[in-house]
Amino acid sequence: MDIKDKKDIIYYLGVSEEEKIRELFDYAYKVKVENVGKFVYFRGIIEFSNICTKNCYYCGIRKDNTKIKRFSMTEDEIIELALWAYENNYGSIVLQSGERKDKDFVLFIEKILKKIKKLSNDKLGITLSVGEQDYDTYKRWFDAGAHRYLLRIEASDRELYEKLHPADHSYDVRLKCLESLRDIGYQVGTGVMIGLPFQTLENLANDILFFKKMDIDMIGMGPYIIHEDTPIIKYVDSFDKESQLNLALKMIAVTRIFLKDVNIASTTALQALKHIGRELGLMAGANIIMPTITDTKYRQLYLLYQDKPCIDENAGLCRNCLQARIESIGEKIGFNEWGDSPHYFKKVRES
Ligand code: 5AD
Ligand code: SF4
Repeated sequence: MDIKDKKDIIYYLGVSEEEKIRELFDYAYKVKVENVGKFVYFRGIIEFSNICTKNCYYCGIRKDNTKIKRFSMTEDEIIELALWAYENNYGSIVLQSGERKDKDFVLFIEKILKKIKKLSNDKLGITLSVGEQDYDTYKRWFDAGAHRYLLRIEASDRELYEKLHPADHSYDVRLKCLESLRDIGYQVGTGVMIGLPFQTLENLANDILFFKKMDIDMIGMGPYIIHEDTPIIKYVDSFDKESQLNLALKMIAVTRIFLKDVNIASTTALQALKHIGRELGLMAGANIIMPTITDTKYRQLYLLYQDKPCIDENAGLCRNCLQARIESIGEKIGFNEWGDSPHYFKKVRES
């Protein structure tokens, strides 16, 4: 089985016979083991605030959703979780929140980065995922210790992007942010939602080509999941969890076969569709898991979509549960490691 071009990508994203899908996943798994091994890396994710200044049409924590209670963790709360991750041998954490660009926010993040770096003796890797920012802000945070940044393009097709966002959310700005991050020296992660209203298989194929063209090191993509209090819901005629899950898994598998040595996350949204969704993601070619380590009291407030799993669990429970589940499918966890993608190192060696 080879996937060489757009035509092949579209073909495999569209396969529907069970046997063909099985073959696709098995081959993607083989390509994963050959290129990145059987290790799963953890990124403990701290969703530290649901305050957002943006209004993406699909997202449950968009600014205009007045039904949710907003929260922001204090500096101490965030540091405590980061240290928990460090002490529990997570090599790396992700700090994620809604998007804010104000000065207080910029300084708050900078201060937290410096503290976490110091308290973990520079050992804990830190990924940021706090949206679009100016070049200077990205640079400042890089200098303060963040070394990876996740900014999903959400949909690489400009027209589709514009259907999913209000007019003042600019596709060009988003692209520019990805370029700035790369220039500064971050390892850059991006991704898309899969199974969105208006999205075609050709759009998804172009997303994969986009990852290649942008020379992306890490990919975080997951199924689109409905949320009742969002404007886009009126365009969703039916929502079938099984087919949504299958399409997302095929997207992971085809991306693995096409790009080979990148890091691909098996995202929580997969688990929202099926209890073992993330394990299925690993079997279809993903190699990263991002267990949430957010405090239980805040989890039910960070609802980007419906049926978000594990909102009653705490970080310790999540860790044990995940470890058992990962080992049950014959994979190992790369504890205490940053788990950078081989793709990134190849580039560094070549430059
Ligand atoms: N379904 C799935 N993913 C979503 N996100 C936001 N809303 C949804 C939804 N309804 C994703 C976006 C964003 C990430 C933090 O959460 O891709 O980048
Ligand atoms: Fe805010 Fe991100 Fe949700 Fe958009 S997807 S509304 S930027 S949290």
